[in-house]
Order: sequence, then C-alpha cells, then structure tokens
Amino acid sequence: MKKIKKIALLTSGGDAPGMNAAIRSVVRTADMNQIEVFGAINGFKGLVENDLCALDNTAVANIIQRGGTILKSQRFPEFRELATRQQAAKVMSDEGIDALLVLGGDGSFRGASLLAQIDNIPTIGIPCTIDNDIHGTNYTIGFDTARNTAMEAIDKIRDTAFSHSVNFLVEVMGRTAGFLALDVGIAGGAEYILLPERAEGAETLIHRIQDRTRVRKGSIIVVSESDQPGRSFQIAKQIEKKTGIQYKVCVLGHTQRGGKPSARDRKIASSMGYLAVDALMKGETEKMVAYNAGRYELAAFPDPGLPARCITDFDQFSIARVLAGE
Ligand code: F6P
Repeated sequence: MKKIKKIALLTSGGDAPGMNAAIRSVVRTADMNQIEVFGAINGFKGLVENDLCALDNTAVANIIQRGGTILKSQRFPEFRELATRQQAAKVMSDEGIDALLVLGGDGSFRGASLLAQIDNIPTIGIPCTIDNDIHGTNYTIGFDTARNTAMEAIDKIRDTAFSHSVNFLVEVMGRTAGFLALDVGIAGGAEYILLPERAEGAETLIHRIQDRTRVRKGSIIVVSESDQPGRSFQIAKQIEKKTGIQYKVCVLGHTQRGGKPSARDRKIASSMGYLAVDALMKGETEKMVAYNAGRYELAAFPDPGLPARCITDFDQFSIARVLAGE
C-alpha cells in the first residue's frame, strides 16, 4: 500500500453550510499525519486546470463558523468526458498528489469514482448537501443548518400571518427529496406539507382546503420546490381561483444554502473530515464517510444508476397531519 503524502481536496456541486468545518478538519488531521493538502479551486475544474493552493493549519483558521466554501464550488459537466478526467489525473501525477478527497453530493462522488478508475487514484468522499438525499448515509452536512434557517424564516412569517390573518405558502429547497420540507413543516407547525415524493399535487391540496370544516386564517403551508423553483406562485393562483382564499408566497431559495453552520453541522463535518483522512491512510478508496444510527462508518459511493435518496417512510408525514389538526 502506497503511503499517502499529498492529497487534493475539493468542494463540488451546491455549497452547504459546514463545508468549511470539514475542510479545516481535513487539513488539520492531515497535518498531524505529515500529509500535505492542496485545495482545488472551483471543484473538479480547478483540478483539471491545476488551480491548486497549498492549505496549512493557518489557512484554515477562523473558517469553522463560515458558510459556503473557501475553495469555491461549481457544477462541472465536462468531467463526464474521459479526456477531461485524464487531464485531472495528469495534474495529480505531475504534482505528486497521491489521493483525492471530495466534499459534495451524488454527482461529485460519481466524478470521484470515475477518476479512481484512472491509475487507481484513491478517492474518499464527505457527503455535503442541504437536501440530505445521498444513498448510504442518513445525514449530509448542511441539512441541519438549512432546516434551522427555514424554520426561523417560518417563525418570522408567522408573525405577519397572525397579525394580518393571512395565509402563506412557504417554499423550501429539495429537488427530488422532501427531507427538508418535512422537518421544516413539522418544526414550523405547518398546516400542510407538499412533498416531491407524494404524487398528490395542488389539486389534492385545494380539495383539502375546500373540505375544511372551519376557515383557517394565518396558516402556513410548506411547499418543496421540487424541480420547479417558484412553483408556489402557480399553486397560490390555483387555490385562489378554486376557493377564493388568498395565499401569499414566500420562496426561501438560496437563503437556505448559506449562513453560519449549526453546532450539529460543525461537529459532524469535523468528525467526517478526520475520518476521511483516516480512511485514505488505511488504504480505503471509492467510499464516503457516512453517519447512520448515531455512528460513523465508511460506505460505498452511491450506485450511479440509482435516483437520489428520498422519503420512503411516511410516518412523520402522518404525524405532521395530526398535529396540524386535520
Ligand atoms: O442540491 C441542493 C440544492 O439546493 C437543491 O435543493 C436545489 O434544487 C438545487 O441545489 C439548486 O441548485 P442551483 O444553486 O444550481 O440553482
């Protein structure tokens, strides 16, 4: 087994609060083990273009509390091309870099896995996305901060909803998975939660509103943006047309991706960063650090053929409906 002396580190895909805490942890754990770390700027693009910066303990001081990623991130579809990946592998070889650590989601791990197939480059992932939708781990860095951000927004909206007796649709992120919407809906006391996993659309919601035994005022419905960010405006129009009841719309959008990471995200990111370096030193590859049932473990990168993880157990959804007083 080749001793790891230099690693490349990158953040890829959508940013998530806690990425910086993970970067800090990787750099400090590596330093303790006499491993040099080079950050690739702008994810895989930076690796391909040899846009690398040496990261030492000082470079990662005072970042644990910062949202976003100091290494910057972007989606880089060009990495699907073999020639682009070969260029990344060449940069790593030219620079004497032995392994790659990737912070990101499904797509980022797919890129890491494809790179690992060239020259057997060891790659380890740390799951980061506010959607919490990666197979193999029940927790992804950024989820807790995002749900707290959205819940605090709902608390604020509720003040106006109550004071003016107006109803709101609050739209939260979550492309194919409703984990964020479900938790935010329960924690924010929503009257109803529209999840991407449930086929019921605006029609079902409208029937519910029509079937009510009492007229509600100042209520909140949480809508997962699904694959149509801003869809709540259309839903509000449909509700008003069919029932005459007005709903104001608040789309939380990218406010959920930013901000100071919560204590939970900082702590999990710190542990995962440590364990990712440890995994590389033990010769592991094509795996991610996972958090399941309160324990950290290594899990295989998700099967690229599978759609993203989503809610399959609707017990919590049923609880939310009971608590909404249906
Ligand atoms: O994957 C995280 C996420 O925030 C999704 O919830 C959302 O659909 C998507 O990213 C938005 O991505 P972009 O910033 O590219 O618009």
